[in-house]
Amino acid sequence: MGERFDNVFVTPQGYKAFLATGTWPDKTMFIMEVRWSASKGSINKVGHYQEGLVGMEAHVKDESRFPGKWEFFGFSSTAQTGKPQGAKSSCQTCHATNGAVDNTFVQFYPTLLPVAKAKGTLKPGVVN
Ligand code: HEC
Repeated sequence: MGERFDNVFVTPQGYKAFLATGTWPDKTMFIMEVRWSASKGSINKVGHYQEGLVGMEAHVKDESRFPGKWEFFGFSSTAQTGKPQGAKSSCQTCHATNGAVDNTFVQFYPTLLPVAKAKGTLKPGVVN
């Protein structure tokens, strides 16, 4: 088992609203793509680069559909549809406890962290 890379994608409307407000509007959807990493291939001698897909995860904000506003979906590397993980899932617990802004890990998104700081939307205590 090697190290992995995570690529996080978000709906453009959600991203634009975050830049303006420092938080996520209703109907924001994230996809996180998890990939294997490799090193010492072709001309890349010291860095790490991405390889095959490990899996995908989704995080969706739909205030009228989900009691906790957000729901998580997990996908295997070949699945076309994801399974809702439920309000008591480990996904909900970890994100709600440790996510810096509205159940999301903005502390690890370096282009968005300064926005949340400027707008005052960071959860106290999760970012040094
Ligand atoms: C132990 C804590 C933990 C658990 C449990 C967890 N995550 Fe996460 N998740 C993270 C962290 C940390 C990130 C930030 C991205 C990174 O570090 O790669 C993240 C990011 C994400 C993102 C990107 C959007 C966001 O909310 O920041 C999605 C989508 C996601 N996780 C889905 C899931 C799903 C689905 C599950 C359950 C099957 C899950 N996560 C369980 C810690 C967790």
